[in-house]
Amino acid sequence: MTGSLAARDLSVRYETLHGSVQALRHVDIEAHPGEVIGIVGESGCGKSTLVTALANLLPANARVEGSIVYHGVDLVNLDAHRRRLLRGDEIALVSQDPMTAFNPVLTIGDQLVDFQHHRKDLDRSQKKARIAAMLTRVGISDAEQRMKSYPHELSGGMRQRMAIAAALLTDPGLLIADEPTTALDVTMEAQIIHLLRELRREYNGIIIVVSHHLGVIAELCDRVYVMYAGEVVEGGEVDAIFHDAHHPYTRALLACDPARFPDRLERLPTIPGTLPNLTEPPAGCIYASRCERTLEPCRNVVPPCVKLSACHIARCHGVCG
Ligand SMILES: Nc1ncnc2c1ncn2[C@@H]1O[C@H](COP(=O)(O)OP(=O)(O)O)[C@@H](O)[C@H]1O
Ligand SMILES: [Mg+2]
Repeated sequence: MTGSLAARDLSVRYETLHGSVQALRHVDIEAHPGEVIGIVGESGCGKSTLVTALANLLPANARVEGSIVYHGVDLVNLDAHRRRLLRGDEIALVSQDPMTAFNPVLTIGDQLVDFQHHRKDLDRSQKKARIAAMLTRVGISDAEQRMKSYPHELSGGMRQRMAIAAALLTDPGLLIADEPTTALDVTMEAQIIHLLRELRREYNGIIIVVSHHLGVIAELCDRVYVMYAGEVVEGGEVDAIFHDAHHPYTRALLACDPARFPDRLERLPTIPGTLPNLTEPPAGCIYASRCERTLEPCRNVVPPCVKLSACHIARCHGVCG
């Protein structure tokens, strides 16, 4: 089953002892089958909150408002049973730490069989054959041997491949990879990106890739949403975001991209300032306190969502449509 995904006016807050953290505010995103969507932004911007909400896996202290419609079904207002069904078969989340995808006391092979519990049409040996094919597809050659391993016996890169294989075995219409390469070294990172690129050719569902690494996004994605402090501040096709960014935050992110600097720079540039306190987000534009181009209304008036082209938007008072 493949279908479109749309989050509308999606807000998530976490109730904590120190107050209510507004981790996501009025987010609108959409994705269509065959598309690879990138979510980019500094650490703490709400990227994981957004994709965890899409995968219906938010922790118990999260409160959600707005809608997430996937294949015509509103995931926010779904009853627990249907939510579980949908999560198992339709939406798969590969997280930054692939260890969390596996039970440490079971072999990888047994778990990969279990991941296919929805395939009532297959017996155990057919499921094993499917696993072997999937492991080859994600670049794991000695599949038989690997299936006998326990999660801790695999390297980080191998575990991440296994996690991607596990996700694909559930036949998801929506595959989400949350910083899939962050915990890996450069070589492994390159291999995983290569793998995701290969997958995108034959996969006709939606892929969402979260990264704070612009290079990963540029290589993999069709469209990008740029997040800042819980809001989508700019969105558009990869080319528009990389070559015609309008929001000052996107421009600042691009200016800090390590790929733009030769090794000789000792310290990479960073955007001055820090994220606002999300328990008391500022009135007006969320980025105003760090922005280089603040105008009169920026500190008090929430900026409009300016449509720059068919699918390029920016939330900024300084941008004209
Ligand atoms: N379970 C939680 N309880 C309370 N606050 C949380 C929880 N998870 C994340 N947060 C907060 O929500 C904000 C967004 O976090 P997150 O979605 O993890 O951002 P990112 O993935 O972009 O780094 C941060 O301020 C973070 O501290
Ligand atoms: Mg995260």
